[in-house]
Amino acid sequence: MAKQRHPSFVCQECGAVHNRWKGKCEACGGWNTIVEETGSASTMAGPVATRPSRAKGRIFPLEGLQGETKEAPRTPSGIAELDRVTGGGFVHGSIILLGGDPGIGKSTLLMQATAALAMRGERVAYISGEEAVAQVRLRAERLGLGQAPVELASETNVEDIIATLSQGRPPALAIIDSIQTMWTETVESAPGTVTQVRGSAQALIRFAKTTGTTVILVGHVTKDGQIAGPRVVEHMVDAVVSFEGDTGHHFRILRAVKNRFGPTDEIGVFEMSDQGLREVPNPSELFLAGRDMATAGTAVFAGMEGTRPLLVEIQALVAPSSLGTPRRAVVGWDQSRLSMVLAVLEAHGGLKLGMHDVYLNVAGGLRITEPAADLAAAAALVSSLSGNPLPPDTVYFGEMGLSGAIRPVAQEQARLKEAAKLGFSSAVAPAVRVDKSKSTKNERLPLATSSIGHITDLVAGIAARRRKAS
Ligand code: TYD
Ligand code: MG
Repeated sequence: MAKQRHPSFVCQECGAVHNRWKGKCEACGGWNTIVEETGSASTMAGPVATRPSRAKGRIFPLEGLQGETKEAPRTPSGIAELDRVTGGGFVHGSIILLGGDPGIGKSTLLMQATAALAMRGERVAYISGEEAVAQVRLRAERLGLGQAPVELASETNVEDIIATLSQGRPPALAIIDSIQTMWTETVESAPGTVTQVRGSAQALIRFAKTTGTTVILVGHVTKDGQIAGPRVVEHMVDAVVSFEGDTGHHFRILRAVKNRFGPTDEIGVFEMSDQGLREVPNPSELFLAGRDMATAGTAVFAGMEGTRPLLVEIQALVAPSSLGTPRRAVVGWDQSRLSMVLAVLEAHGGLKLGMHDVYLNVAGGLRITEPAADLAAAAALVSSLSGNPLPPDTVYFGEMGLSGAIRPVAQEQARLKEAAKLGFSSAVAPAVRVDKSKSTKNERLPLATSSIGHITDLVAGIAARRRKAS
């Protein structure tokens, strides 16, 4: 098939192809993201097979839903927090995209994972397109992993990398750090463009599928949290994992955004130290360390991240505003969720917040997505507005409806158990459902729980604390 060569205008954010240059990409709304690229039309359009067209297709056998399926074979990395996120280890022949801000610790994490596998006798390769071999070696030495038999190279040409890795026993794991630095000869565009990234990823995916090697692609993230350019790669890979945290904190959170072979709600928690990333097996202790218990405006939320309960402190500051439109700022939680909680507190809780600035912060740099945090956020807000500190030994959880009703959430028992384990003595939560079919006798709750059904109960409870105190 003769390749047509013509210039195309490709959005570097979303990969949309336009027929002329424009300031704004109509597909994703990005400004100044369109770049002229030359390449064959087939690579522009995505994964199109380049085999000659035939009048008749080959007939392949169709199978039913029943049948024998083997569990996908996996290689655990030996780093428990990483294996938790992948779903029990690296699936052979799978391809993982690891995204994260520059400097967050992606290369460090992957060096630790490759070294751990190499020490167990697996063949592993670390290909860096960003750093020289000496730099990577220096990092490994700093991590105390200088002796691990990791195969190391500084290379950016995908064909050369695949040819090299194909020699001998296929590696169990190959790291490509990063996909943005890779280029393939099959595409004419400049390195770093969407077309190159996609072409390189395609070649590496083919390599992973044919050899059974697990390939991890490192991807950089733009300011607004997108994996730059390789957003087009996201749907081609088996798993997308992001490494988060802010550089002001030591905590790093590994989170699966997409996973064809495992859960997407599990997180792995790490701490960055001078000897690399350390696993944090009991993150609640870490997130509650340094808690200020005497001040109004803080509440402990008993949350869940996947199958793991996680306690975090939610801090609120409600202060009279000098602005016409009061400020609403939130870190680690959803802005629209905060607006909703504030509206419910005003409409059903009798609070006047229209003249107040409101700040909400999740301590430790964690990002909460659960609606179960509504009640803890509301408690922190009411506490801050009223100036009454909440009891330091109490945890909060519950979802709030627009009517002010507090609705039950999943896994109450696990939340309460974790709180009891960490020395909390009571919980404020929606009425706990007792599963009649399962419980034999009266199932004992691990913690004294005051059930509340409506937001007015919460507001009244916090106001009553002042009367008791004074
Ligand atoms: P790195 O893994 O290079 O980040 P990425 O690949 O995501 O860009 O990590 C860089 C940061 O981590 C750097 O600012 C220094 C810090 N760091 C430590 O604090 N301790 C260590 O042991 C290592 C290796 C790095
Ligand atoms: Mg790096």
